[in-house]
Amino acid sequence: MAKRAAQAMEQTVEATTQEIGRSLWQNLERRRPTIFEQRWWLDHVLEWAMADESVKVQMFRFVDVLPMLRTHEAVTAHLHEYFDDIRQHLPSAARLVVDHSDFNALTSKTVAYGARTNARRMAERFIAGSKVDEVLQSVAKLRRKGLAFTLDLLGEAVVSEPEADAYQQQYLDLITGLAPFVSRWSESPQLDRDDQTWIPRCNVSLKLSALYSQFRPIDPAGSAEGVKARLRPILRAAREHDAYVHVDMEHHAYKDLTLDIFKQVFMEDEFRDWTDCGIVVQAYLPEAGRDLQDLLEWVRARGTSIGIRLVKGAYWDYETVVSGYRGWPCPVYTDKWRSDDNFERQTQFLMEHYRELRPAIASHNLRSLAHAIAWGQTLDVPQNAWEIQMLYGMAEDQAQLFAERGHRVRIYTPFGELIPGMAYLVRRLLENTSNDSFLRHAYDTSVSIEDLLRRPADVGDRQAAAG
Ligand code: FAD
Ligand code: 2OP
Repeated sequence: MAKRAAQAMEQTVEATTQEIGRSLWQNLERRRPTIFEQRWWLDHVLEWAMADESVKVQMFRFVDVLPMLRTHEAVTAHLHEYFDDIRQHLPSAARLVVDHSDFNALTSKTVAYGARTNARRMAERFIAGSKVDEVLQSVAKLRRKGLAFTLDLLGEAVVSEPEADAYQQQYLDLITGLAPFVSRWSESPQLDRDDQTWIPRCNVSLKLSALYSQFRPIDPAGSAEGVKARLRPILRAAREHDAYVHVDMEHHAYKDLTLDIFKQVFMEDEFRDWTDCGIVVQAYLPEAGRDLQDLLEWVRARGTSIGIRLVKGAYWDYETVVSGYRGWPCPVYTDKWRSDDNFERQTQFLMEHYRELRPAIASHNLRSLAHAIAWGQTLDVPQNAWEIQMLYGMAEDQAQLFAERGHRVRIYTPFGELIPGMAYLVRRLLENTSNDSFLRHAYDTSVSIEDLLRRPADVGDRQAAAG
């Protein structure tokens, strides 16, 4: 009986998902000239890269090393090193550059300038800036568009203690500097209230591996002490200035340690009653459901709710490559539909437990988001008890549309210098040029709305049938 009721509810949710998805799509299609338009792929460099896997790999290697290259000779030398072997895959203009082996000072300077300009333009698409005034402008602009923000200071996996000190100090400065600025804004109930109370306008996201240079799963106790010593002052500043702190999730080897540190620190007397905190769960991990169940039990023991940002996971390429060459089992799903399917199951779980695990559904995938809205409606979850999150520079018109439909939409806004931001930038480039990316399919006019909205398990069945 219970099984039949659950099936009936799932059918309702599926029908509602289709209805919502189509209605959103129609609205986006009307805006099509500005939504999935060429601006994603504006840079010719990105277009070339998408066309050919070998170019993509070399280009990302080159982009990664570029900020470290001090002279134009070093830039051209690296161009040769990376692109010589794949010159036949390059478009003619780029081939000309690589074939030109005897650069004089002027051509070398011009080529280096072009490379840096292109890399900077790519970075500007995903990174909001590096200076304080740029940050303030960015968050004020988001606010004017009816969007909330979470700020991320670029940096992860620091290798020295002074670097970790600097990262901590930047967060302290950010929280203390931003609080008076955002407190001057006039109230927006859509952005500033959930179903219970007023929520902080100032919201930051951080990565624990940036707070301690010896962040090592092999030494959980030492790592936890090192991280917590730098995290506590940030949390105190956040409480004092009414800011929210969200802990990002990094690659799989760091996951359990990150969860443990999160649970330890937020169970301390000083922070136990504090609701303005949260953590990320990644649906590309088969154990996401178990982790959420553990977090639910922990929240019940703690007695105070937390936020959960549900994502698919940003380290897919890293996890598959690293586990492959080490010969270890791959920790992430390797079929895209399985990540999508797990995302949907965990969305349902969060909606069922929204009072304890306040959901932030973070995706640019229309199907994933329509499905979240459908569960929210079916379970009578108040619309402001959960939020939608998206990344800066991605699916901007979708973000605007959800905001216009009354959802609280929060934009994850990274800022900082290019060198600490390079890993972040490469993740965004990989994600956006992946053959499995929803946004890429949405941009492709040959992909139908039926395919875009197809239930992940049905995608799996079709793939199995096709062999
Ligand atoms: P989709 O195109 O639907 O999904 C792409 C994702 O599917 C990939 O990123 C990958 O996770 C998965 N995938 C791709 N190919 C395959 C395959 N062959 N098999 C199985 N799975 C596959 N990620 C983190 O890891 N940690 C964070 O802290 C984090 N914070 C985020 C905050 C916000 C606000 C947002 C919007 C995203 C965040 N992400 C984070 C990134 C997120 O994990 C995704 O990488 C990104 O959002 C793309 O997923 P999508 O649902 O938008 O797009
Ligand atoms: C990343 O750093 C958004 O946290 C995610 O890629």
